[in-house]
Amino acid sequence: MPELIDLRSDTVTRPSPGMRKAIAEAEVGDDVHGDDPTVNRLEERMAELTGKEAALFVPSGTMGNEIAVRVHIQPGDCVIVDQMAHIYRFECGSAAILSGAFMQPLPGDGGILKAEEVAEAIQEETLHAPGTRLVCLENTHNWGGGCICPLDGMQEIRGICSERGIAVHLDGARLFNASVEAGIDIRTYSETADSVMICLSKGLGAPVGSVLMGTHSFIRRARRFRKILGGGMRQAGILAAAGLYAMDHNIARLREDHENARRLAAALDNLDGLSVNLSRTQTNIVAVDVSPPAHSAAEIQDSLAERGILFLPMGRTKLRLVTNLDVSREDIDVAIAAFQDFWAME
Ligand SMILES: Cc1ncc(COP(=O)(O)O)c(C=O)c1O
Repeated sequence: MPELIDLRSDTVTRPSPGMRKAIAEAEVGDDVHGDDPTVNRLEERMAELTGKEAALFVPSGTMGNEIAVRVHIQPGDCVIVDQMAHIYRFECGSAAILSGAFMQPLPGDGGILKAEEVAEAIQEETLHAPGTRLVCLENTHNWGGGCICPLDGMQEIRGICSERGIAVHLDGARLFNASVEAGIDIRTYSETADSVMICLSKGLGAPVGSVLMGTHSFIRRARRFRKILGGGMRQAGILAAAGLYAMDHNIARLREDHENARRLAAALDNLDGLSVNLSRTQTNIVAVDVSPPAHSAAEIQDSLAERGILFLPMGRTKLRLVTNLDVSREDIDVAIAAFQDFWAME
């Protein structure tokens, strides 16, 4: 069996020796009591980076997003999302379960909400209709193939929402990828939202952890919901230390993942029956369309897995390959050769 090249997600990375050393040396305390100096340092740094008043370390991106929804809305309120948003499609319906959210999915454009459609969709509460209280944005967009939301569109949506008294939450699971690639700082993106969630356990390579940012009063309530969900952690500094290490060492290098993704995308787009929207391959995700009469996505996945290349299908006719910290340029060339080899056998 060849060595595995794991392109299933950027969450599959393992802590490097340097990160493990930072974990081992972390100063800790009981974070539920606010006593963990390393968690406090991470929260202060993330609040500063995003230009928000406060931050809260949470175990996962899902928990960060779902706490945000819970703090922003009351049960029955309407939440506007794009129809492929992670918050809407891939968090087990938690916004309905935990917050009683009435989700209103809009078509968007490959994951990017358009300001006109948001303006059109916002509804006032009436005797018959729920009122819109929250709009959720996602940057970069997972199902959109890692595409970057244009800043001006986000600003326009923020402007429309501010005028109507509606909150904006930004799912920035991969906001560092957007920032590095677009050359737009995290603070500028964060100004387009009242709350922002950023993951440390994706492209940045930390084993666990995300951070939610907002005003002091938002984070005070978020802390309470984190406790309700069982997300209050004790000596969590060992995890926060990995996040701090990741921020010191792994942000600028995201560019390498993006270059690897573009290299892979161009090669796969050259194979008959596969196509990749190259202009949308902007960061570390390669979304590949599989068109008939070629193989099904599942067949390709199985055959490439036998060659040591792991990735996931997105439905029946799409593949998703995600470049990450543990995949080198040489690995990408091995993956490309494996695809070409499989194609040549047909
Ligand atoms: C855009 C986006 N938001 C949120 C999440 C949830 O993060 P977690 O897996 O840490 O719950 C993911 C996970 O892949 C994601 O892609």
